[in-house]
Amino acid sequence: MRHTVHADVRLLLDHQAPGGAYVASPSFSQYPFGWLRDGAFIAHALQRAGERASAEAFHGWVARAVGRREDDVRRLIADRAAGRAVDHRRMLPARYLLDGRSEEGDWPDFQLDGYGQWLWSLAEHARGGPLPAGVRDAAVLVADYLAAFWDEPCYDAWEEGRTQHHTSTLASAAAGLRAAGGLLGGGYAAEGERAWAFVLGRCVEDGHFVKAARNPAVDASLVWLATPFDLVGDDDPVFARTLAAIERDLWRPDGLLRYRADTFYGGGAWVLLTAGLAWHHARAGRRERACELLAVVERHRGADGGLPEQVPTEGTDPWFLDYWTRRWGPSASPLLWSHAMVVLAGLEAG
Ligand code: BGC
Repeated sequence: MRHTVHADVRLLLDHQAPGGAYVASPSFSQYPFGWLRDGAFIAHALQRAGERASAEAFHGWVARAVGRREDDVRRLIADRAAGRAVDHRRMLPARYLLDGRSEEGDWPDFQLDGYGQWLWSLAEHARGGPLPAGVRDAAVLVADYLAAFWDEPCYDAWEEGRTQHHTSTLASAAAGLRAAGGLLGGGYAAEGERAWAFVLGRCVEDGHFVKAARNPAVDASLVWLATPFDLVGDDDPVFARTLAAIERDLWRPDGLLRYRADTFYGGGAWVLLTAGLAWHHARAGRRERACELLAVVERHRGADGGLPEQVPTEGTDPWFLDYWTRRWGPSASPLLWSHAMVVLAGLEAG
């Protein structure tokens, strides 16, 4: 079977704001914002699908959103260099309003992974042509910010665990700094290697990567260490044991959990993670397994073609599912990031 991604690409393009942002979900009350994390993957998917202009518009949007905070970021970096305490409420946000302004709220906003993922996505974009005008300065600013703060504990990719060193966050920073080294030169690549050495030194237990330093569980976001970040190869023994642990501990009949103790919507199977795993298997040459996983994802497509963030599955806690559904309504659908991962996996599997 060949994978057609045309409708998913169309849906992503249709939900790009005029200024370049991708809304996380057009219909979910809590997600009318542009997250750097979601956007970095969406831009990459569209770039791979041949929609370079869309990726360019996104990178321009990020550059403007970050650029208007330049003075604050430079002050943060100076405070850090001088050994002064830095209040986390001053850090760059994880998500922005679609016009690039900040959203004032109590969201757990200090998350560094999205900035690393953005630099990685931008460097991938720049392989196909010159950097969009004005974007270079923002890339330097973000790379300086990450170089200064990558070892600061912060919320993870799931916006949880404020005081921990999360492996996929550190890996995103390492990948972003490596990418910045290639794009901008300077000492960024060396700083990226320091971040990666930190992961190898503190985030490996029992021969596999773990969710966070001092947390021996696995998390599905650990797949990103190999795909797409290429910090390790599929044949790396530590990664191979991680993948085996993920498939053993987190696989359910409807797809992949984020991590075992997840309670958000009862802890269901995440479409974007199932597709992300398919993307990895396809890149590693295991097309058949990738297709099986993509077939599981297809079962969750709504009548309108939308893919949700997550679906209930075996072991989902009904109390928490009910709690979140009463609070925010059913799981976000369409979630643009889910569609992006399906595009990436589908293109890779062919
Ligand atoms: C997820 C984040 C994501 C955001 C928007 C949150 O629930 O934990 O990873 O960036 O939704 O999609």
